[in-house]
Amino acid sequence: MAKIFSGVQPTSIPHLGNYLGAMQNFATLQKGNDCIYCIVDEHAVTLPQDPATMQNNIRNLAALYLAMGIDPKQSILFIQSEVPCHAQLGWIMQCISYMGELERMTQFKDKSKGKNAVPAGLLTYPPLMAADILLYQTELVPVGADQKQHLELTRNLAERFNHKYAPVFTLPEPYIPPVGARIMSLAEPTKKMSKSDKNKKGTIFTLDPENQIVKKIRSAITDDEATIRYDREHKPGISNLLDIFSLCAGRSIDELVGAYQGKGYGEFKTDVAEAVVTMLKPIQERYRNLIESSELDEVLDEGAEKAYTIARSTLNQVYKAMGMGRVSRL
Ligand code: AMP
Ligand code: TRP
Repeated sequence: MAKIFSGVQPTSIPHLGNYLGAMQNFATLQKGNDCIYCIVDEHAVTLPQDPATMQNNIRNLAALYLAMGIDPKQSILFIQSEVPCHAQLGWIMQCISYMGELERMTQFKDKSKGKNAVPAGLLTYPPLMAADILLYQTELVPVGADQKQHLELTRNLAERFNHKYAPVFTLPEPYIPPVGARIMSLAEPTKKMSKSDKNKKGTIFTLDPENQIVKKIRSAITDDEATIRYDREHKPGISNLLDIFSLCAGRSIDELVGAYQGKGYGEFKTDVAEAVVTMLKPIQERYRNLIESSELDEVLDEGAEKAYTIARSTLNQVYKAMGMGRVSRL
């Protein structure tokens, strides 16, 4: 029985990379573990967001979590800003972080590149993420490969705190899937699939209608070798489609490469698209039933309450260890 925590930003509808790299594992890991899943809206506002769009994204993400198999009877699902302990421990984590280590984070470098006014929240994003994880004494964090560095920082901060004050925190491990941890853009297969990609043809969103999914996959950039084989370096487009096909259809890459010997890219892409559509269809149906229901608010209310109880107890230990507030009242 492991304690598991992960979060997704409500910055748009989750895409296929979010699902295959992270969210698919959220549901699988529920069996036999204590799972807590979060809608990390405080992370989302490190860059400006339109308020009405954010509200929609939060609701859509909550419905999608459930549609993707999160069972509120087994797991806790909540919104980060509804549990104030995240911002509170986030502050403490900022105070024990060094500027140098935060400036070295590749996500910070990518997101701040070319901006002449960089929001301070972009720099302090990782200490807030550390707070999310450490509040729940998390052991395992299912994420895509792009979050590995943030997980390493989280471990360093936990160790630093434990050493300096008192052994309050469990050191978490990342859980990064062997296939799918880095789904690439269909339009530029050397770049990861991303919510913020301006070229919308590169990203399949989990609520895209069937005809758009088919269109995006048919226009995916490949190469002119005309053989289907797995080679991330020389054939990033085909290799990415093989990863997607393998995960959506539950068939191994070797099996697929064998099955498509001597076949053309056109036929291959048609079958990849069908596998994606078939996998997403039941999720989209469940989403449509959930989005209008009152169940969502009940789940989120209950989730915030349960999360608060656990988080507050950790925060009290932190304040006590640091001599903050009135220790006698904690
Ligand atoms: P975000 O949308 O940034 O909150 O990401 C939610 C989860 O999806 C995180 O665990 C990310 O590591 C994961 N993720 C994001 N993009 C990709 C991608 N292209 N391939 C695989 N996993 C991804
Ligand atoms: N940084 C993560 C991402 O962009 C989102 C996130 C915030 C998260 N807090 C977390 C993921 C805690 C795992 C655990 O994908």
